[in-house]
Amino acid sequence: MFSRLGWQLRPRSAQRVFRRMASNRIRAQSAVYTETGEPSQVLRVVEHEVPNADELGDTQAVVRMLASPINPSDLNQIEGAYPVRAPFSTRITGELSAVGGNEAVGEVLYAGAGSGLQIGSWVIPQRAGEFGTWSTHVVVDDAQVASVPLEWREGLEPLAVASVKVNPSTAYRLLRDFSALGPNDCVVQNGANSGVGRAVIQMARLMGVRTVNVVRERPDFGELAAELSGLGADLVVQDRELGDPAVRERIGALGPVRLGLNCVGGRATLLMTKLLAKGATLVTYGGMSRQPVTLPTSLLVFRDIRACGFWMNRWYLSQPRERRDEMWRDILGMARRGQFQTQPMARVEWPGASRVSAEEAQRAVRDAVSWSTGKRAFVFSA
Ligand SMILES: NC(=O)c1ccc[n+]([C@@H]2O[C@H](COP(=O)([O-])OP(=O)(O)OC[C@H]3O[C@@H](n4cnc5c(N)ncnc54)[C@H](OP(=O)(O)O)[C@@H]3O)[C@@H](O)[C@H]2O)c1
Repeated sequence: MFSRLGWQLRPRSAQRVFRRMASNRIRAQSAVYTETGEPSQVLRVVEHEVPNADELGDTQAVVRMLASPINPSDLNQIEGAYPVRAPFSTRITGELSAVGGNEAVGEVLYAGAGSGLQIGSWVIPQRAGEFGTWSTHVVVDDAQVASVPLEWREGLEPLAVASVKVNPSTAYRLLRDFSALGPNDCVVQNGANSGVGRAVIQMARLMGVRTVNVVRERPDFGELAAELSGLGADLVVQDRELGDPAVRERIGALGPVRLGLNCVGGRATLLMTKLLAKGATLVTYGGMSRQPVTLPTSLLVFRDIRACGFWMNRWYLSQPRERRDEMWRDILGMARRGQFQTQPMARVEWPGASRVSAEEAQRAVRDAVSWSTGKRAFVFSA
């Protein structure tokens, strides 16, 4: 933590920032909702003033957002269908409201006298559901954010750092925590073109593990299959092909399928589970089809398939910070070395209150949360 003495010892440039902020109030824009519901209906963008440095609590800081992805769980949270609720408070609008989004990276602009956060450092939220990230600026407490050391993120785009906490971290754990995978082993996954799926492909390849990747039937399958193969996928198939004996034979030739990763549910998951080797594990981490996971008794009894779930949030809450840091350092290291690509995301530019009106920003936000295909992320500019 920064003592008062520590604050006085900050670099000159930091002190300049402090003074500038103390005299000019920043106008922020935030995407808020006062009741849960369809995100494109309930989200509205409001403008509000950010406290000056001398108005902050001792361990508070003002963070300028750089980038924040739009994840399926963020939308579920706004719909009221996610176990982690956003904190509702009267702080921004005067009425009870919450800010959307949970994953981001931001830059510390100025901080309270007792804050341990360095001005100019990049920070990411520690946990989901503590403060919303679809906001040009946020006021955080030291304990709500984790600093990203410069050497971990040097040369990386804000979006690569902003999105480390959810999808790549989930893939990282899925490949390490459920099965002792060796070089001739195989993983089968559905939703293989999702953020998690793409991360699984790349990380499995680095581990020498083969991947069978299932995607939904689509007209541009050839193009997508080539793209996923470029990331390191050993085989890419459409869900309807899983019952085809020739396809099953090709999968069998790759090696024993020790791990199944499911983010879809329904029939596609049932067919995929039939590919698993004796004693293999099926991990469900998402339910994009909103269909239940149904498994035949014979797979559980005779093939000894283990079925379980994984939730990244639970992992973060149960693990010491050192393990989390080790994982983030490792993933960002892969990205810096060019071994790992962040999933493609359409950038939704959000230039802030000095450049666009709240109405314009609201149109962009509502449009961004209502797209039905592809991943999007807010990218903020100063
Ligand atoms: N448990 C955890 O801790 C954890 C962590 C991260 C993510 N997740 C979950 O993992 C899933 C993927 O997240 P993401 O951020 O990686 O997703 P994403 O990049 O937004 O991709 C969404 C994926 O879901 C597929 N999809 C969409 N609607 C579908 C449907 N009705 N039936 C079958 N597939 C459908 C998409 O396929 P198309 O291209 O065919 O539309 C795409 O592969 C989500 O359920 C998310 O909540 C869970």
